[in-house]
Amino acid sequence: MSEIVRSSQEAPEEPDFTATEHVHHPRRTDVDPRAARRAERQVVILFTLSAVFTIAALAAYVLIPVDAGVALPLAGGVGALNLALGLSFGLAILCIGLGVIHWARKLMPGGEVVAQRHELRSSDEERAEAVAAFERGLADSGFAQRPIIRRSLLGALALMPLPLVIILRDLYTAPEGAPSPAEQLSVTIWGEGIRVVSDVAERPIRPEDVPLGGLVSANPANLHDVEEEDGNLNARAKAAILLVRMRPDEIVSEQGEGWSYQGILAFSKICTHVGCPIALYEQRTHHLLCPCHQSTFDLADSGNVVFGPAARRMPQLPITVDEEGFIVAQSDFQEPVGPSFWERG
Ligand code: FES
Repeated sequence: MSEIVRSSQEAPEEPDFTATEHVHHPRRTDVDPRAARRAERQVVILFTLSAVFTIAALAAYVLIPVDAGVALPLAGGVGALNLALGLSFGLAILCIGLGVIHWARKLMPGGEVVAQRHELRSSDEERAEAVAAFERGLADSGFAQRPIIRRSLLGALALMPLPLVIILRDLYTAPEGAPSPAEQLSVTIWGEGIRVVSDVAERPIRPEDVPLGGLVSANPANLHDVEEEDGNLNARAKAAILLVRMRPDEIVSEQGEGWSYQGILAFSKICTHVGCPIALYEQRTHHLLCPCHQSTFDLADSGNVVFGPAARRMPQLPITVDEEGFIVAQSDFQEPVGPSFWERG
């Protein structure tokens, strides 16, 4: 086996890092005190603008109704509050960032620093030198000598967390005397004799419309009788159901006796984890899979959870048929539908 020998002429030259000349070209602000003062004013303006935008975010949160909308040329209708919060808080962060960059580029020392590679752990002397260098850098940054920049930066940073704190208020707490989330989710517009209609065409459904192994998304026929401030969104969200059909002998258990009809079972469509609508059904296993966090429910076995983060089974709606042969509810759900965050309360 031949050995490859590289002649000294072919050997790559070791770069000599120490030979690199670093020439510092003074900036205008280094030599012209007026330019330095102008840059200082610009930094202060940016920090002050940041504070103003943060206050604007707070004002927007208090003053703009949560349901106010605004039409934008290409985006269509958007929530005015979300738009105002996003713009004002985003500009507040942007101004802080621009201010810091401008300060560093124009006013902090601009000389290049060369650091040689060394062992990972520094010696005690080097550590002491690093601390001293940090303190020198701190002094050079002018943080102590430029009180107006320091105060405007600290003021802007102090205000910045406030929008984040007040937005926490939107985590739901029931007003005094209002029904708790569990009570609100326990009542839907389903009731005895309410027909099941398909969710798009809104046609009443007969048992023969639900194929064996199939899944049909459906709603209550009285959905449009509901009058709510937001149309019927709440009612629609709570009442959406799925119909599935399996052979009666495949049904292991139900949440109540006689709640299915000829192998057709009705379940809430809203995942009991955090409320995603579900329509992924595996005919062979009778498993219903939530696409959000993969909670899986066994519809042949009372809708029990077989996998995933959901802590509660999928509520079943008792169904039968009316005298004209259409599928109807026997009653409302017998347990709260939707996410079960309220159980932690
Ligand atoms: S919302 Fe269904 S698993 Fe999380």
